[in-house]
Amino acid sequence: MASILIVEDDNTLRQVLINLLTGQGYRVSSAACGKEAESALKNDIFELVLTDLCLGDTSGLDILNASKRLHPETEVIIMTAFGSVKTAVEAMQNGAWDYITKPFKHDELLLKVSKALERIELRNEVRLLRQEVAHQFGFDNIIGNSKIITDLKKIAGRISNSDIAVLITGESGTGKELFAKVLHHHSARRKKGFVPINCSAIPESLLESELFGHIKGAFTSAVTNRRGLFEEAEGGTLFLDEIGDLPYSTQAKLLRVLQEKEIRPVGGNSTRSIDVRIIAATNSDLGQKVENGQFREDLFYRLNVMPLHVPPLRERPEDIPLLAEYCLRKIRGEYGRNEVTLTADSVDMLLRHNWPGNVRELENTLKRALALSSGDSISREDIIFISPQRTKLTVEPAEPVSKRSLLENQKIQILKSLEANNWNYSMTADQLGIGRTTLWRKVRKFNLKQPEAV
Ligand SMILES: Nc1ncnc2c1ncn2[C@@H]1O[C@H](COP(=O)(O)OP(=O)(O)OP(=O)(O)O)[C@@H](O)[C@H]1O
Ligand SMILES: [Mg+2]
Repeated sequence: MASILIVEDDNTLRQVLINLLTGQGYRVSSAACGKEAESALKNDIFELVLTDLCLGDTSGLDILNASKRLHPETEVIIMTAFGSVKTAVEAMQNGAWDYITKPFKHDELLLKVSKALERIELRNEVRLLRQEVAHQFGFDNIIGNSKIITDLKKIAGRISNSDIAVLITGESGTGKELFAKVLHHHSARRKKGFVPINCSAIPESLLESELFGHIKGAFTSAVTNRRGLFEEAEGGTLFLDEIGDLPYSTQAKLLRVLQEKEIRPVGGNSTRSIDVRIIAATNSDLGQKVENGQFREDLFYRLNVMPLHVPPLRERPEDIPLLAEYCLRKIRGEYGRNEVTLTADSVDMLLRHNWPGNVRELENTLKRALALSSGDSISREDIIFISPQRTKLTVEPAEPVSKRSLLENQKIQILKSLEANNWNYSMTADQLGIGRTTLWRKVRKFNLKQPEAV
C-alpha cells in the first residue's frame, strides 16, 4: 500500500485527512509543521506528500522543495486556501503534481490522490521493465568463455558508450543481434529505442520511406505523413540488419544521411537533423561485395569503423557445453520441465556436431530434444540434427556406428515423435523440423504403423 505524508497545521483538518486516507487503506504519517515534515522526509520514503501551502513556520513550497531534493520520485499535492491559486501554480512549476483548493470534497481529494499514485505506479513499472530489459542484455547474457568471445566482450565493453559505427559480421545464428542489443543497453542511449530493420526483408520501393519517412502524397499509398525508422530511433540506436542486401540505389542515400546527420522524408523538401547511432550487421562478405561492385566502398568504410566478427560455433566448441546449459535453462522453464538436464553422453554428441546454424540451431536442437525426451534427462537418442534448410533428417553418431544402427536410431526418433503427437503427421513433421512428405516417406520406409486403437 502506498504511504502518504500529510503536512497540515490545522489540527482538526489534519485529523480528518488522516482518518479519510487511512480509511482507504493508505499508510499515513502526519506532520503539524515544517520542522516535523522535514524530519519525516528524512527518515522515511513516501509515495505522496500532501501539504498545506501556509504553515506556521514555513511554506508548502519549502516542503515541496525539500521533498523533491530528498526523493525526486515522490509526488507532491498542495492544499491551498481560496485566493492563493497563484502560489499553487508556482508550486506546480516547481514540480508539484497537482493542487487542491480548500474547502474541498473528500471525493475530490481522493481522486487526486489516486491519480498521483497511479502515475507513480506506472512510472515504477516502466522502470522495472527497463531494468528487466537491461538485465536481459547484460554482458553476462553473452555466454561463452572461449578466448574469442571473452575478447569480443571486452572490445564491446570498451566501445559501447561511444557513438562509433560498428559492423558486426558472422554466420547466421552466431549472435550478431545479441551483440548489437548489448552494445545499445550499455550505452548512454539505452533510455531511447533500439530499432532494428532487416534490410533484406523490405521491398526496395518501400525501403526509403521505411527508413526516412514520407510526406503525405509522396506516392499513391502515402495517405498521411509518416515518420521513418531514423526518427523512431532518435537518441537511440538503429540496427541495420542484413546490410549486405541493401539495394545499390538506397546505399547512396544512406551514405548521405550518415555524413550529414540529417534526413529528408520521401516527397519532402526540407531536412531534419537526427542523432542516431548506427550498428550494422551482415552474414555476407561485404568486402567481397565491394570488390564485385555490389556494395559502395564509401558506405562500407562509414559503417565499418569498428568491425566485430563473431566466429561460428564450430570454431569455438569449448563454448558449446555452457551455451547448451544456458539455452536448456531458458527453454525448460517455458515448458514447465525445470528438472530436465543433459546427460554427459548428449553433451558429447553436441560437441561433435558442426553447427551450420550456430547458436540458433543449438537452441532449436535442444527444444526438439526436450520435446522428445521423457523423464528428467535429455539423452543422446533425443538429439536430432537437422540441416538449416530443414530438409534433411540426420542422426549423427557420437562414434562410428554401423549404417544399420544409425537407421534404427532414426526410426526410434520418428516413432517417438509420432506417438508424442498422437500420430498427427503435420505436428510430428513440425516437431522434427522436416517436411510432411519426407516424414511420410520415412514412415513407409520403416514400415511404422499406428497401434490399433483399443
Ligand atoms: N553467445 C551467446 N550467448 C547466449 N545466447 C546466444 C549467444 N549467441 C547467440 N545467442 C542466441 O542465439 C539466437 C540467435 O542469435 P542472433 O539472433 O543474435 O543471431 P544473428 O547472428 O543475428 O543471426 P541471423 O544472421 O540469422 O540474424 C538468439 O536467441 C540469441 O539470443
Ligand atoms: Mg540477426
